[in-house]
Amino acid sequence: MTKPNVFSGVQPTGNIHLGNYIGAMKQFVDLQDEMNCTYCIVDMHSITLPQDPKQLKETTLDVAALYMAVGIDPAKATIFVQSTVPQHAELSWILTCHSYTGELSRMTQFKDKSRGSESAPTGLFTYPILMAADILLYDTKYVPVGNDQKQHIELTRDLAERFNNRYGETFVMPEYKGITVGARIMALDDPTKKMSKSAENIHSRISLLDEPGKVKKSIMRATTDSDSVIRFDPAGKPGISNLLSIYSVFTGKKIDEIVAQYEGSGYGQFKKDLVEIVNNYLAPIQEKYYDIRQSDELIRVLKEGTEKASAVAERTMKRVREKVGFINI
Ligand code: AMP
Ligand code: TRP
Repeated sequence: MTKPNVFSGVQPTGNIHLGNYIGAMKQFVDLQDEMNCTYCIVDMHSITLPQDPKQLKETTLDVAALYMAVGIDPAKATIFVQSTVPQHAELSWILTCHSYTGELSRMTQFKDKSRGSESAPTGLFTYPILMAADILLYDTKYVPVGNDQKQHIELTRDLAERFNNRYGETFVMPEYKGITVGARIMALDDPTKKMSKSAENIHSRISLLDEPGKVKKSIMRATTDSDSVIRFDPAGKPGISNLLSIYSVFTGKKIDEIVAQYEGSGYGQFKKDLVEIVNNYLAPIQEKYYDIRQSDELIRVLKEGTEKASAVAERTMKRVREKVGFINI
């Protein structure tokens, strides 16, 4: 039996954090043995907001190295950079012509980032179409992402269905693949907001490359409520519930087990233990990261990734061009 196809992407902006890891990248690793996985560094999505070109190049390589450092094995999964496969832009245009401004206006990420401004970049508006193109090019069955991307997957499905209805079966219908614990990791300083790469306060997040001292500070000062009872209740006790999710993912223990373990003890001990757990978890990832980032292997892996991804993407595009009436020569 052929393995189902998996596709996902992460933007090459700095500060890859525990939310990115738990919501997305950890799943990438877990899926690579059972499925046919393709993981992209989506640099074309990053230019929807202004970027420093030199830095973009560096962070693209940083994220590629992090993919490998967290355990994605290029012998099992394809790793490549989006802009090196121009079919993404090509399909994105075709899908743009089959999308409605109304459905794009409803995307909450666009609403958050543009805040109704007339001068919001057009790319920010059409961003989900490029994401749909990424997914549909690879006949993707499952898309492992954090829960903030669920709405974009729904749009991808709508576009695929619309296209298939109009031109006949062309695209595979993709599905969101989430996790139960940690699909939305919250900001440490304000657990009502999601942990994000761009928040000003560096203690709102833990980045995968944070030093132990920084991790300690961020966790010890994480916002929790004042009743000091360790209980999982995301609505009533969002701060401690968020820390419990992180604890659970990094130890493999069930939340109930952890709650039982800390019965009667306050937040102080729990936080101290969590600092150690997180630091021990990140240490080998960081070590591997710095090795890979400096090695020639990284570029070799990305070149090979571009070749493999291009072959699949071109096969899909031949089919799509045929359907819409473009000539294939
Ligand atoms: P991005 O950095 O925006 O490209 O996000 C990369 C991946 O991380 C996507 O699958 C997101 O859904 C996921 N992600 C981002 N922030 C969080 C968060 N706070 N909690 C869980 N997943 C997240
Ligand atoms: N939009 C996603 C994010 O911000 C990143 C992304 C781009 C993506 N293309 C994708 C994720 C395709 C999954 C599949 O997190």
